[in-house]
Amino acid sequence: MSAEKKKQIAAEAALDYIQINDVVGVGTGSTANYFIDALASMRGKIDGAVASSEASAQRLQQHGIQVLDLNSVGSLPIYVDGADEATQHKHLIKGGGGALTREKIVAAVSEKFVCVADDSKLVDVLGAFPLPIEVIPMARSYVARQLVKRGGAPELREEFITDNGNLILDIHNLEILNPIEMEQAINNIAGVVTVGIFALRPADVLILGKDDGPEIS
Ligand code: 5RP
Repeated sequence: MSAEKKKQIAAEAALDYIQINDVVGVGTGSTANYFIDALASMRGKIDGAVASSEASAQRLQQHGIQVLDLNSVGSLPIYVDGADEATQHKHLIKGGGGALTREKIVAAVSEKFVCVADDSKLVDVLGAFPLPIEVIPMARSYVARQLVKRGGAPELREEFITDNGNLILDIHNLEILNPIEMEQAINNIAGVVTVGIFALRPADVLILGKDDGPEIS
């Protein structure tokens, strides 16, 4: 079975977590897109969605789902999003699509974070996927030097500007043995907006699309 089909299986299984009148937090990326397409079947039953990117907002609106400003909703019962890597502890690397800052904000606000992914995303140790970091443009070189000191090999994401007007550094060669410590340490570097480690606020539910259906943990 293709990775795309597995993403779709995981995304559609997340519909079981949506309740009538929910405002739904929605992530970014190809798996999140499958979720948006599935959510369209509940269009009349939910109160709207908060999007983690302009791209997802546009897709939601194309399906006739109302997109709300996060500031206009008190709390979010649920957030559904993909990941680039996930561990059994539900620590994640996110930001392959560059939406990590808004994703981290929506995850922080949400009562339940359901992560949906194909089963190739499950890893023992985070870091084989280059770690995305959103940085303020003037701090690009400084942040990169700090990551080199930690053993990383930073690469500027070419011709990419985030929805917030910033840059992305993708850090290769990191073995993230203590995701919580590394998330805190990188977030403390001046000029870092967000690091793509989601460990301080991990997922609550991980749905992996597999050959024989969704596996939920
Ligand atoms: C976007 C993300 C995505 O969730 C992550 O990149 C996974 O994407 P996909 O579902 O396309 O594999 O963090 O910033």
